[in-house]
Amino acid sequence: GAALVEVAPPPGQDPPARILPGRLACVTAARINPSILSADFVNLQHELERIATADYVHVDVMDNHFVPNLTMGPPIVARIQAVSPVPLDVHLMISDADRWAPGYAELGAFSVTFHAEAAADPVALARKLRDMGARAGIALKPGTDPEPYLEILHEFDQVLVMTVEPGFGGQSFMPDMMPKLRRFAEAKKRQGLDVWLQVDGGITVDTIGMAAEAGADTFVAGPAVYGGVPESRIADLRVAAAAHTH
Ligand code: DX5
Ligand code: ZN
Repeated sequence: GAALVEVAPPPGQDPPARILPGRLACVTAARINPSILSADFVNLQHELERIATADYVHVDVMDNHFVPNLTMGPPIVARIQAVSPVPLDVHLMISDADRWAPGYAELGAFSVTFHAEAAADPVALARKLRDMGARAGIALKPGTDPEPYLEILHEFDQVLVMTVEPGFGGQSFMPDMMPKLRRFAEAKKRQGLDVWLQVDGGITVDTIGMAAEAGADTFVAGPAVYGGVPESRIADLRVAAAAHTH
C-alpha cells in the first residue's frame, strides 16, 4: 500500500531508522546496498550523494587476476570513504585477500568482504578484520560449496552468496543459487547467529523477492538503482523485498 513507500525520508534528512513502529517495521528489515559499479566513475561524489537513503554503498574492488575486470584500489576507496553519506560495504574480488583485505579495514570501511576462494586462512583473516573494527564478510562464487563454511559461520558478520559470476555488473540473477542461500539461512537460525546474508548480482524488483524468501537480508543492486532515480529505486526495492521477508 501507499504507506509502505513512506520509508524513503524527505531529501536532506537522515536515512531511515532501522526500526520504525507498526507496519513499517518489516520494510526496514531489508538492507539495500547500491553498487557504484553502475555509477558514473568520473562523478563519484555526486553519485554517492544520490544514494544517501541507502543503507550502505557497495564498493567492488577487482584486480584483473581473481576476476578478469579491473576497478579500483585503496586510494580511490579511501576517497569514497571520506565523502560517502553512508558506510562502505567493500567487496574484494582480489587474489591474496589475506594480504590486502586488512588495508580496507584500516581506511575505515564498515564491512570488508573477501572471497573464500581467494583467502588462505579465512578464519584468521576474519578475526583480523574484526580486531581492526570492521565487519568481516566472506563471499562465495556460484560454484563454491557452502558446506565447509556452515560450521564456522560464527567467525563472520556477513556471508555474500554471489548470484552471478563475479567480475561484471549487469548480469542476470541465478535463481539456482537459492538452495545455497537457504543452507546458510538454516545454519544461521539453528546456531542462533545474527550474521547478515547478502546477495549480489542481478538483483531487481523482480528478483529481490526470491532472494528475500530464501533468507537474504542484504541486497546489492547496480542498474536497478542507478538505472533510474536512485531514491525511488531504493524505496521500490525495499517494498519488493518486504513483501517476501519472513
Ligand atoms: C559483480 C559485482 C556486483 C555487481 C552486481 O561482480 O560484485 O556488485 O555490481 O550488481 P548488478 O548485477 O546489479 O550489476
Ligand atoms: Zn559486488
